Amino acid sequence: MKHTAKMAVGAAILAALTGSSFAQQRMGWDEAYKLADKKLTELTLDEKVSLVRGYSTFFFNGVPAKGIPYLYLSDASQGVHMRDNLPDPTMVDQLERSTALPSPIALAATFDPALAYRYAEVVGEECRAGGIEVLLGPGMNIYRNSQNGRNFEYMGEDPQLASEIVAAYVRGMQSTGTAACLKHFVCNETEFYRRRSNSVVDERALHEIYLPPFKAGIDAGVAYVMTSYNRVNGEWAGQSDFVITELLRKRLGFRGCVMTDWTSVYDTEKLVKSGQNVEMPGRREVVPEVHELLRQGRLTEADIDRMIRPNLATGYAFGFYDREKYDRSLLDRIPGHAATVYEVASKATVLLRNNGILPLKADGRKILVAGTFLDEIPRGRGSAAVEGFDNVTLREALAEAFGAAVIFAENPDKQQIADADAVIVSIGTIDAESFERPFALPTEQEKFVCEAVETNPNTIVLVNSGSGIRMSKWNERAAAILYGWYPGQNGFRAIADILTGKVNPSGKLPMTLEREFADSPAAGTMPAGAEFYHKAPRAYNERMIRLYDVDYKESVLVGYRWYETKGIAPLYPFGFGLSYTTFALDKPRAAKVFPADKPLKVTVTLTNTGARNGEEVVQLYVSENSPTVVRPRKELKAFRRVELAAGKSAQVEFELDRSALAFWDEASHDWKVNPGEYTLSLGTSSADIAATLPVTVK
Ligand code: BGC
Repeated sequence: MKHTAKMAVGAAILAALTGSSFAQQRMGWDEAYKLADKKLTELTLDEKVSLVRGYSTFFFNGVPAKGIPYLYLSDASQGVHMRDNLPDPTMVDQLERSTALPSPIALAATFDPALAYRYAEVVGEECRAGGIEVLLGPGMNIYRNSQNGRNFEYMGEDPQLASEIVAAYVRGMQSTGTAACLKHFVCNETEFYRRRSNSVVDERALHEIYLPPFKAGIDAGVAYVMTSYNRVNGEWAGQSDFVITELLRKRLGFRGCVMTDWTSVYDTEKLVKSGQNVEMPGRREVVPEVHELLRQGRLTEADIDRMIRPNLATGYAFGFYDREKYDRSLLDRIPGHAATVYEVASKATVLLRNNGILPLKADGRKILVAGTFLDEIPRGRGSAAVEGFDNVTLREALAEAFGAAVIFAENPDKQQIADADAVIVSIGTIDAESFERPFALPTEQEKFVCEAVETNPNTIVLVNSGSGIRMSKWNERAAAILYGWYPGQNGFRAIADILTGKVNPSGKLPMTLEREFADSPAAGTMPAGAEFYHKAPRAYNERMIRLYDVDYKESVLVGYRWYETKGIAPLYPFGFGLSYTTFALDKPRAAKVFPADKPLKVTVTLTNTGARNGEEVVQLYVSENSPTVVRPRKELKAFRRVELAAGKSAQVEFELDRSALAFWDEASHDWKVNPGEYTLSLGTSSADIAATLPVTVK
């Protein structure tokens, strides 16, 4: 091992990441539930019923006279969404500014849980400074559908990647004293009329694909979970006994507090009996309806106690009822948070293609910068939007990096493009909650890129989007392509530094980029003939829309599992991303037989075979050779980001638990590992497998 020091630091961070979640709580759950039960004996029935709903859009209701304060909840995973629409702004003394981080999908593209921990610390510290007890994130719905307008808020298509990022995020966030909230539970993978969709999903897909990131967040000690807008197999998630009591409580062992998504439940009796804990922000009618149901005997006081008890217990467990609301000392840390934005953006940006034009040397050459987002920071919209401060635009970042060599023209003519020594074309989309958006760019934008790459062979395309876009029409003609996601307030500096070569790119795709949307299992999610953009005011329009099914017919074959198993070549595979250096993997080693009582140790040597320092993500996939049910060709089960100096080697070690081989058995309703032959694949993307190893399970 050539870089022991680095690995030692890595080990310390890993220890922090895997450390006990209890440390983040003030007390254990049993003790917290005892205090909640005691408090219940002090509350009147009216007070109890008042707690079944929220207060004033972003608060949990309180009973201040009895020691239950209002708790302030705020979005979003990528920073603090500053509310200018609080109906009662006197309730909190808001932050003056908050840091806009790169979007969560960018965080996933770093494949770096230790960085996810620090990312979440940034958000958590700002919440704590601003009196926000609960941060409404992280989001972790699975990228099964490139057109989902909220993909930017989530962690990509793979449950292992999402799980590791989510667990680190939860620990980082909660280490600051701010509680995290996993969302949206569960199977909320489309935004097209999200209050009208019914996700039809089988048991295996639920357990193998959609639940693991939630399980990881729960095991990391998360305080809250938010249910989703959609129905799951016929019932609205927020009032579904199956979703809340069966899956979340019994299967995943969650002991904290569940909340509904904002205005997502319809039946008060079901709501109370489902295991839900608080309706957010709460229909006007819910309190009178609960009283009426109590009067009729269809609900009892014990039902209300059961409903609100976890909310109280969570307040005690996390110490929210007797601490100072604000930790103003943390305000001093806000200016330093931009460094994390830069670091995440520099590790998240994916170099998809490079004919050698990058790094780009100015050398007195003329670089034309054209297209969108020159003066606007691209970012996801909706509840997750964060404006940031001291924003650095692409124009500013490129001018800083290249000086007088760059000239800007949003819509250059053909001659200007042809005359430049190199062209940087910036394109992308602004994705948003409650909208799907077409995979293909708007026609004009797509036409513009096609023309640019045809006119000038030295055209570099920079994509900023929260999700995949169609690139198949121009991909092969581009000299280089960088995928920059939503980079956050100063992330364009990192992208500019990648263009100049000051930073060596190391991001990896957290999802497959398909050639055409028709290749995706999610093609056809929107009902036939449906339009992308809502034309009428949504509340009105939504009621006019028929309930529709989102059929998860591909079952467990989501993302690369689909493309590989079906033999459909994607444009760029999951886990892919280039560097300015090159890496090689060799000497893979593992026992031939999976040990009966301990994890399997897998090692491989990674060598930086190029001329500059860089980072690579080593990925370990497993496959069952003769499965008894349809299984993906292979599945990611471990990964490790490694930093290596030019010419150096390091031994990368994985410990694979037997559960990494398991599938969900629908007959026994449990995980199962068949005896037999398995294959371990080690690579630097799902399609670049350098070595395989056989392993037998007895
Ligand atoms: C979103 C949630 C968000 C909530 C509060 C809902 O519309 O789906 O993700 O946390 O609003 O803003």
